[in-house]
Amino acid sequence: MTSLLEVKNLSRSFGGLVAVNDVSFALEARSITALIGPNGAGKTTCFNLVAGAMRPTSGQVFFEGRSIENTPPEIVCRIGIARTFQIVRPMRDMSVLENAMVGAFSWTKSVNEARSKAYDSLESVGLAGKADARTDQLTLPDRKMLEMAKALSTRPKLLLLDEVMAGLRPTEAAGVVRVLQKLADSGLTILLVEHVMRIVMEIASSVVVLHHGAKIAEGSPREVVADPRVLESYLGTGFHA
Ligand SMILES: Nc1ncnc2c1ncn2[C@@H]1O[C@H](COP(=O)(O)OP(=O)(O)O)[C@@H](O)[C@H]1O
Ligand SMILES: [Mg+2]
Repeated sequence: MTSLLEVKNLSRSFGGLVAVNDVSFALEARSITALIGPNGAGKTTCFNLVAGAMRPTSGQVFFEGRSIENTPPEIVCRIGIARTFQIVRPMRDMSVLENAMVGAFSWTKSVNEARSKAYDSLESVGLAGKADARTDQLTLPDRKMLEMAKALSTRPKLLLLDEVMAGLRPTEAAGVVRVLQKLADSGLTILLVEHVMRIVMEIASSVVVLHHGAKIAEGSPREVVADPRVLESYLGTGFHA
């Protein structure tokens, strides 16, 4: 089976610091994979490398078999990779719908097409009822959903979510989990950075663990939480699933 995304021996240095160190992994289509590890492990840098926001020092990224590591971010977006950022930043003087339309202009010039796609995206994250609201009226969970809707409007095959549930209460995070499961069921492939292990265990079919830039473990959630290296470097030896 070919993978939707394959990262091969990917490395990125900043001066003397090796932020991502010879990392390889692959994502099967329609799966949800979690990228986990302590702060500074290289997770966001990995996202930047996959999304074309940064070039690797060495190594390769294949999307649908095509090498993309030297592809500019707007082209990466157009071929089907979308991302959200750790910090949510809606455009304040635009409505929720207008914000969600922004993503659609990556593939269409038609305002009508963009509006129609934006409604779809808002619907799939449960925000359609607030389409006309101003973004400063949104709660934090809604602003996170809007970031996802913006990303969905680009019509991605792969969605990269960087700590999209950070700062949410458990019940709010549970709402996001349901949305992500529905998206994966409808054919989207998701790679997410997530710190709450309970959420990772519930949502991810596989997990990649980074530590000091290197991959130290990979497998099902159950496998990685039982891995001594993961317990030692990230979860703590007192961790119980
Ligand atoms: N643009 C940058 N310039 C210099 N160092 C960076 C840059 N981006 C990230 N780093 C460093 O690379 C390491 C990995 O960072 P990051 O990928 O943000 O980790 P994570 O998302 O896992 O917390 C950290 O030590 C960070 O300080
Ligand atoms: Mg990060």
